[in-house]
Amino acid sequence: MNLKDLYIDFFVSKGHKLIPSAPVVPENDPSVLFNTAGMQPLIPYLMGQPHPYGTRLVDYQKCIRTNDLDSIGDKTHHTFFEMLGNWSLGDYFKEESISYSFEFLTKVLNIPVNKLAVTVFKGDEEIPKDIESATIWQNLGINKIAYLGKDDNFWIAGESGPCGPDTEIFYFRSDDEVPDTFDPNDDRWVEIWNNVFMQYYKDNNGITDLPKKNVDTGMGLERVTAILEGVNDNYLSSVWIDVIKKIEEISNLKYAGNEKSMRIIADHIRTSVFILGDDAMIKPSNTDQGYILRRLIRRAIRHARNLNITNENWEIILANMIIDKYKKYYSELEKNKNIILEELTKEKNKFNKTLEKGLKEFEKIINNTDEILNKDLAFKLYDTYGFPIELTVELAKERNILVDVDGFKEKFKAHQELSRTSSSGKFKGGLAGDSEKEIKYHTATHLLNAALKIVVDKNVHQKGSNITAERMRFDFSCDHKLTDEEKLKIEELVNKWISEKIDVTVKEMSKEEAIKSGAECMFIDKYPDMVTVYSIGDISKELCGGPHVKNTSELGVFKIIKEEASSAGIRRIKAILE
Ligand code: SER
Repeated sequence: MNLKDLYIDFFVSKGHKLIPSAPVVPENDPSVLFNTAGMQPLIPYLMGQPHPYGTRLVDYQKCIRTNDLDSIGDKTHHTFFEMLGNWSLGDYFKEESISYSFEFLTKVLNIPVNKLAVTVFKGDEEIPKDIESATIWQNLGINKIAYLGKDDNFWIAGESGPCGPDTEIFYFRSDDEVPDTFDPNDDRWVEIWNNVFMQYYKDNNGITDLPKKNVDTGMGLERVTAILEGVNDNYLSSVWIDVIKKIEEISNLKYAGNEKSMRIIADHIRTSVFILGDDAMIKPSNTDQGYILRRLIRRAIRHARNLNITNENWEIILANMIIDKYKKYYSELEKNKNIILEELTKEKNKFNKTLEKGLKEFEKIINNTDEILNKDLAFKLYDTYGFPIELTVELAKERNILVDVDGFKEKFKAHQELSRTSSSGKFKGGLAGDSEKEIKYHTATHLLNAALKIVVDKNVHQKGSNITAERMRFDFSCDHKLTDEEKLKIEELVNKWISEKIDVTVKEMSKEEAIKSGAECMFIDKYPDMVTVYSIGDISKELCGGPHVKNTSELGVFKIIKEEASSAGIRRIKAILE
């Protein structure tokens, strides 16, 4: 049995309910492009909202991290990975959590006790030393314990949110004799599991207690599988080996000597399959998730060229293999199979059309370049040949030549006539800041939400929203395609409110009071106890962090540019303010 099944079975036998992986594109959180950890989709429940499946959960979560694309191609990094996790939402705490981990490792995976060591939080002025966890480990027979500080043994996703001290479990991966003492800096000890005791909430005002004490654990599936199978190259573990063999077959080459390109192809095609297969229906594009997807596919294509792969269906063969491998756990891959395959091929053909010429142009350019490839040429490669700037940088780096990326960005910005914030936001891969235009779109979103309730159905609810300086996008629950008449009425109503010059007011109140007053709210538990409620006359009242304009007259003319399906039962409107 594989690690994933063993893990799930074990925690189910301890009263945990298996919950499905959340989509890899966060459903209601425009502040990140992808889920990067198992805990991310569970934040509302760690904050106190009751989870429909109860207080003991187990899952495997699809995660994507693309901030370190350059390291893909080495033995251990992946853009997509699965994170196994077990969760206590105000149910058990340190004692059971640690005991479960110990039992799973020593009884199910049969790891000898002396090959295990742990780190615990050493304490600081804010949070006490975690003697309790250390004592529990000791009582179980683990004596290799190191106390470390906040950098190592305190876990938070980013700057704010639920957080707490953690205890990390290490495994001795070596044929050497296990040392008597544990040195966390000795790299024969590798971390395999992280148990976070989430009892705090951190924001700009400091650290406060969460309503309940939770447990969040995370185990990286590909990493731990490789460790347990005794291979130090993840791609040689059972998670990957069949894909690598397939690439050897397609390319007629051996893995040894071609590792980097083969790893990049395997990794990038798998991640692309999962992005395309997600119900968010991301397609290759030049913005946000779509841009990452485009970069991944194009980079895989370039490395397929490096290997001289001539099989015209290589991407289909690999994608099919990956879909078959994972569909038992992720049924969306089977459901969206046609889209995945079609889009991969479409993007491949699109890129292949110009790639050859682009590479020739690149050769010409690079041969006439001494140290730095200038912004005009980088832009030409982007604009004419579809080279993502990162690809140009990578190709140039192979010749020890730098690229004027800042200059490129400036040119790109001028070209797209994008506002300052949205363009830099996209390059960072994150959410753009609040420009004036975006603030207007925030307010327009509230008006649209209100208009939908009047024109379409009072039970229409917001399901997501994403704003850039160029447009607003709004997802809402609705069982039918909007008619032209409905769209027209919505536009008219929003524009009527804009022309009525209505004041937008904000009030601070307790969450309870806000709900009682009938304020609309999409994800109640992401909000602290005191909330801000924005009202637009008596047209709209929503719990919201803002910011908003002061008066609807500032908005301009509201226009729907597209209405389409987002996913089952969810429609999407794209609109602009002119
Ligand atoms: N949140 C922790 C991590 O990502 C444990 O799940 O490592």
